[in-house]
Amino acid sequence: MGCTVIIGTQWGDEGKAKMIDYYSQKADIIVRYQGGANAGHTVVVNGKKHVFHLIPSGILHKGTICVIGNGVVLDPVQLIEECQLLEKEGIDVRKRLYISDAAHLLLPFHKEMDAAMEEARSNKIGTTKRGIGPCYADKCLRVGIRVGDIFDEEYLKERLTTALTVKNIQFERCYNRKGFAFKDIYDLLMQFKSYAGNLAINTPYYLNTEAKKGKNILLEGAQGNALDIDHGTYPFVTSSNPSIGGAIAGSGINPFLIHEVVGITKAYVTRVGEGPFPTEEKGEAGEIIRQRGGEFGATTGRPRRCGWFDMELLKHTIRINGITTIVLTKLDVLSGFEQIKVAVGYSVNGKKIDYFPSAMQDKIVPLYEEHPGWEEDISQCTSFKELPKNAQNYVKFIQDSLQVPISIISVGPDRNNTFEMK
Ligand code: IMP
Repeated sequence: MGCTVIIGTQWGDEGKAKMIDYYSQKADIIVRYQGGANAGHTVVVNGKKHVFHLIPSGILHKGTICVIGNGVVLDPVQLIEECQLLEKEGIDVRKRLYISDAAHLLLPFHKEMDAAMEEARSNKIGTTKRGIGPCYADKCLRVGIRVGDIFDEEYLKERLTTALTVKNIQFERCYNRKGFAFKDIYDLLMQFKSYAGNLAINTPYYLNTEAKKGKNILLEGAQGNALDIDHGTYPFVTSSNPSIGGAIAGSGINPFLIHEVVGITKAYVTRVGEGPFPTEEKGEAGEIIRQRGGEFGATTGRPRRCGWFDMELLKHTIRINGITTIVLTKLDVLSGFEQIKVAVGYSVNGKKIDYFPSAMQDKIVPLYEEHPGWEEDISQCTSFKELPKNAQNYVKFIQDSLQVPISIISVGPDRNNTFEMK
């Protein structure tokens, strides 16, 4: 297996958690490299639902080491909560979790700022209000507080005083909100230090050393390529790089150690929050997909917008990330449609284009092809051969158009509703 990266190829919620869980069976170490508690990973094991926001879902595999990389914005309150929950379930999380000492800490004022900015915007992004944008903004402004800072109390006090002075002025004058007391944040950081401080290590050193020893490492992306701050539908994106660049920068892994880049791809498309979505189906078909697919956000509970498979979006993701193999998820949700639409090209302002444009994405008009659907429930299928002919044709059509092998198909939420293409 070597070093494998898992990337969401659409707007997130492609079913990455289930596939990370699947790949985790062979992994020694699982790394999260970007995002924060905006992600919601739902894994079903033996019918029991587990939702994670921060800790890699691979923690459910006994013996697997999990790492929160430097590219993640780490909410200490959330981390403590998730650890406590897992420990209650009998999972020895703090014996198998490392945290990068270079990861930025996401603090209560980041969440407050996220909410304040979102409220003030006329053109809302529809963020998860988990503080992601403001925390990454502080990182770029070089005023952020990192995990490693909590071990030097004088330095920490100075950093926190500087950060709060500016932020409290902003809260009070710009957003008419109350500022934060130094003591409250400092105490929170000290609580985090005593609960999880011993998990902090230099993760690039650890990961590269272990990789060279031959350990199998899985790098798990949160969100998806279309939410990438550089390659997505800016400004309706998240504030990090879910794409391959984020995997390298956010973990510190030597890029030449990466063997495989797996693109997790839903058999249709969804997005949460605002922003361009060329193949969105606002009518009955969209509602059918939402209900059948249970398309409601794991973090916010918001109904997801639903639509048809978009080939141009996938080609864009494959191009940028060097996707070597595709996992096709939720194929079962499409059962029962007489015809299934697939966008096979775009036109913008009446002109055909063969790429996903960086600007004027709201002007994209998808050019559709229709494929005959299938009636049968396919959730119990255990091989490609068992799929109805039209479902086989749909899969083959996607694979041939993308020119990337589809290696695994998922036809239901449980670990067992998955088969390899042979
Ligand atoms: P933020 O990441 O909370 O700043 O939100 C920015 C955009 O990314 C919003 O449209 C969110 O709905 C979307 N988003 C963030 N995290 C996820 C996720 O894990 N799945 C799907 N969409 C997400």
